[in-house]
Amino acid sequence: MPRDETDDIEAILAVTNTDTSEVEHAVPDASDAMFTWDYQKGKRPRLAQLYEKAKVSMWNAETDLDWETEVDQEAVVMANPALAGGNGVGMDLTGTAFAKWGDKEWLRFGVEGQNWTLSQFLHGEQGALVCTAKIVESVPWVDAKYFASTQVMDEARHVEVFSRYLDTKLSGHYPINAHLRLLLDDIVADNRWDMTYLGMQVMVEGLALAAFGFLRQLTTEPLLREILRLVMADEARHVAFGVLSLGEYYQHLSASEIRERQEFAFEAAVRMRDRFLQQEVFERMGVPVKEAVSLVMQSPERLVFQSMLFSKIVPNCAKLGLLDAGDGWLRQRFGELGVLGFESWPTGEEPEA
Ligand SMILES: [Fe+2]
Ligand SMILES: [Fe+2]
Repeated sequence: MPRDETDDIEAILAVTNTDTSEVEHAVPDASDAMFTWDYQKGKRPRLAQLYEKAKVSMWNAETDLDWETEVDQEAVVMANPALAGGNGVGMDLTGTAFAKWGDKEWLRFGVEGQNWTLSQFLHGEQGALVCTAKIVESVPWVDAKYFASTQVMDEARHVEVFSRYLDTKLSGHYPINAHLRLLLDDIVADNRWDMTYLGMQVMVEGLALAAFGFLRQLTTEPLLREILRLVMADEARHVAFGVLSLGEYYQHLSASEIRERQEFAFEAAVRMRDRFLQQEVFERMGVPVKEAVSLVMQSPERLVFQSMLFSKIVPNCAKLGLLDAGDGWLRQRFGELGVLGFESWPTGEEPEA
């Protein structure tokens, strides 16, 4: 798809969740459920090592977090305007709906932004829960089934903590962003087991790990900082699980099959970078969404955030050989996005060989 069509603001905004009252969402999934009769544990020693680590790293949302912590959402926003998009500082807002905004509106925008962000974390975590359950079913290796089953439990706890945080500490929920939903739908609907890994463990979780780290650095709220610390420790194992499994599997794929994986990775990255724009917050704030989104795209914070999102994805794609496979198609594309600088950044999650 040519970029000028898919990334046109009108086209981005035309994709919405039409039924926001929907409580259940079904995605057809035609993958094979795989049994293996080869039960020999530890054939893939690094996966076995991750499995052992996961078993002793489980925390309990009920007892390991201080839910008595008082959260003053407005104080959190005021302590760090960068989290709310910098309050328009450094941008020319003349003639836009934002020109009329005073402190009250910017504060509300910051609060809604938190509600939106944590809501998307929650929905993304459910995506991970569903995808990992699918991996348990579809991956043919017993060591991978073992590890994936621990990840199912991890993701259940992640859904649990973000849901509780939203319900008891914040001030409202948002439905899943339509572009995030379409990406999750595509990942779940793909019947090739390795695509679940690439979509979820490498792309979505790589992005989430970067976003969690960014938020944890910026926020002053101690309960959220602790939640993110616990979740990030789990996510690091999950990303490593993806890189280890795919690293082995990709050695057996043909050039054209690898090219499909490159295209899938690139499309997922662009979807999240260019189309995941807090559209729903502007709608709720009653400002013209198209104008707001165009401004957001130019804000200095947005640029930093956008490229930071690639800080795990690019080095992991490099480790998987996806950057240079074929004629270096993905290296070329990531180069155009200006994110190749992350190529040799440490991801630092893999256990020793
Ligand atoms: Fe998670
Ligand atoms: Fe995860």
